[in-house]
Amino acid sequence: MTVSQVRDEVFAQLGLSAEEAGAFDGATWSAGGARVAVHSPIDGSVLAHVRHANADDYERAAAATARAFLKWRETPAPVRGEFVRTLGHRFRAAKPALARLVTLEAGKIVAEGAGEVQEIVDICDFATGLSRQLYGLTFPSERPGHRIVEQWHPLGPVGCITAFNFPVAVWAWNFSLAAVCGDSLLWKPSEKTPLTAIACIKLAAAACREAGFDPAIATLVVGDRAIGEKLAADPRMALISATGSIAMGRKVAAAVAQRLGRSLLELGGNNAAIVTAHADLEVAAKAIFFGAVGTAGQRCTTTRRLIVHRDVKDAFVARLVRNYENVPIGNPLADGVLVGPLIDAAAGERMRAALEKTRAAGGKVLTGGQAVSVAGCEKGCYVRPAIVEMPAQAEIVREETFAPILYVLTCASLDEAMALHNGVTQGLSSAIFTNNFSESERFLGPAGSDCGLANVNTGTSGAEIGGAFGGEKDTGGGRESGSDAWKAYMRRATSTLNGSGAVPLAQGIRFE
Ligand code: UN1
Repeated sequence: MTVSQVRDEVFAQLGLSAEEAGAFDGATWSAGGARVAVHSPIDGSVLAHVRHANADDYERAAAATARAFLKWRETPAPVRGEFVRTLGHRFRAAKPALARLVTLEAGKIVAEGAGEVQEIVDICDFATGLSRQLYGLTFPSERPGHRIVEQWHPLGPVGCITAFNFPVAVWAWNFSLAAVCGDSLLWKPSEKTPLTAIACIKLAAAACREAGFDPAIATLVVGDRAIGEKLAADPRMALISATGSIAMGRKVAAAVAQRLGRSLLELGGNNAAIVTAHADLEVAAKAIFFGAVGTAGQRCTTTRRLIVHRDVKDAFVARLVRNYENVPIGNPLADGVLVGPLIDAAAGERMRAALEKTRAAGGKVLTGGQAVSVAGCEKGCYVRPAIVEMPAQAEIVREETFAPILYVLTCASLDEAMALHNGVTQGLSSAIFTNNFSESERFLGPAGSDCGLANVNTGTSGAEIGGAFGGEKDTGGGRESGSDAWKAYMRRATSTLNGSGAVPLAQGIRFE
């Protein structure tokens, strides 16, 4: 099927049209900014035109989001959870169409598009259960007849900025948790993927209307950097949750800190996999292949560095090179394809420039890096994933290039591997491949991996929603998705309750 046939089908299924407005305030879809063509990275064709939000549209959407919060926060949490359950059902039903829309707009293969929509379904299930588990603490007071409780309350409207590479799941991590926590959420998606965002907000609005809630708990502004800056600086937004580059995160963090708001950042990664002399090389090769090549190297969790013990290096790298040379590259809608296009020509150019730097730094390209021409998709930016053997000190290895380049670094000991591993500014995801318990314990210990995600015998990408997701250092320190990530979306009130009939003071103070 051609891109336009798939588009017509999924547009009909998801209620999209060739002309969309990229601002939703809970009541109307209208936007007065520029009319921008949305191109598919698959073949460069125009999928639709979307009108961007201008300053007025932003103001309407932000005001509506703030208004909706006032009512939503008083809706009982399990009732909010019941709403999120119905939302999850809508995404279950929409999964085949939305997965293909993700493929059309972001270029990932359909299996990965479906995996991304599955993350929405999973996090809605998780959030539904969570809505009955927003537990606070109760503990004894030092004063007779007193007790102390901590209670969690809704925090406020949330502003959510997301990237092109996970155009729907990251919003859902944020919205489903925000919703059960009693917060409304204004979403600014990547300008590259407005259609998937519009489709998600339409589903959310329909779920709200059916359940009798104000659709302004899930609002949308599609726009450029100026809209993102407004969001970050808006004092009505109690929390800004932002996913994207480190450079973007620094600006958002500064703007939010300036007004003493709360931010939750999920920024760049430079994820490494260590393969020790005790690794099962077959397991390691499969996991690293997916981690490095999946989503054409455009996940924040993509494996970008392989740190391999010199005793197994030749055998391991040869195995990996074989996998790379056989990987099917092409139209991500086609069965059997594992590597689709990069998001756009600029991404291809950044990959080319990075490879040039590797050569200048003494790197040796072992495979890949070439542009690939795909029949019928000549305007897409397809590349052969690259493996480059690098001297450890090369500066380029410390940078995140959002493309499928895997740097190979050789080590002689676990000490050396750990130093290389932690010797970058980013700290998102990591993995060690070993069947030696002491090695894996060391990797997971306090002097081990300094990342937010540290895996053993499984790759750096493809985390499940149940764990807290995010990373340290330049990755920004935020945690989204499972575990206790919900606490970022709530405020805590500590209350001392006195039933004693007297007024004893804490710390033994007498004030009479
Ligand atoms: C991202 O790339 O921003 O762990 C998110 C993973 C996915 C999420 C990636 N579950 O690779």
